[in-house]
Amino acid sequence: MTAVLPHAEQAAQSAGPQHTIQVRDVYKSFGSSHILNGLSLDFQDDAITTVLGPSGTGKSVLLKHIVGLLEPDAGEVRVFGTDIWGVSEEERFELRKRFGVLFQDGALFGSMNLYDNVAFPLRRHTDMPESDIREIVMSNMIEVGLEKAIHKAPNEISGGMRKRAGFARALVLKPDVVLFDEPDSGLDPVRTKLLSHLIQKVHAEHGGTYIVITHDIPTARTVSDYVAVIWKGKVVHYGDADGAFNSDNPFVRQFLAGAAEGPLGMD
Ligand SMILES: Nc1ncnc2c1ncn2[C@@H]1O[C@H](COP(=O)(O)OP(=O)(O)O)[C@@H](O)[C@H]1O
Ligand SMILES: [Mg+2]
Repeated sequence: MTAVLPHAEQAAQSAGPQHTIQVRDVYKSFGSSHILNGLSLDFQDDAITTVLGPSGTGKSVLLKHIVGLLEPDAGEVRVFGTDIWGVSEEERFELRKRFGVLFQDGALFGSMNLYDNVAFPLRRHTDMPESDIREIVMSNMIEVGLEKAIHKAPNEISGGMRKRAGFARALVLKPDVVLFDEPDSGLDPVRTKLLSHLIQKVHAEHGGTYIVITHDIPTARTVSDYVAVIWKGKVVHYGDADGAFNSDNPFVRQFLAGAAEGPLGMD
């Protein structure tokens, strides 16, 4: 239902609190598979929100919508107050520069050492002199504990180190928004814990709107300020971490407890 409001009231509504990342009633299908089914979420600014949900439920598809790599069939994704598909390709490209993204595998360039990987966005998107680039790259490398590995190639280091290098690179343009797609995938529990703490530490120091996609409950417990649970292409719960972990929604309880009994079946 759309209410008809006097102009002044409409203006007052649209001047209300603006979230940096707003997903509005987004639908997305691939062929006959309906992946996002009216998904809406205003992510809390300047906080870490984890997006939890079973495998194959559309978490990565959601992330690709937020960064403007996939276009919704219906609905809208607003970033920094702009409809990301309502602007030109050039403008979308500019908006993307304000995101740091850590993809599942770190997505490092295999032919470059870690230093050049982390320097890459600065060389590509800025005209900074190499001396300034060096300062930023080294400070980020120290932050993630890789200052001694800058000359290594990605295939010479562990999966955990690759994630940290990917994180250092994601932060290099000082993004307002950082997105992580399953930062914990392929890591053992100890390295997962260390990476979770690193994400928290960096967020505490620099702030920003962080979105962490995961299906790992311990990661969510460690890093979350807010939790969104998605299932079958919709948000079934969104709220602060305490509320999520104490929810009485049977699906949320089952999923967050990893229990076999409950509404969540194998389908
Ligand atoms: N580009 C694509 N083309 C076709 N199907 C896709 C595409 N991207 C994702 N899918 C399908 O959408 C579903 C959700 O995928 P995904 O978002 O990657 O799940 P997850 O929640 O595990 O991240 C999967 O069934 C996947 O096969
Ligand atoms: Mg995924």
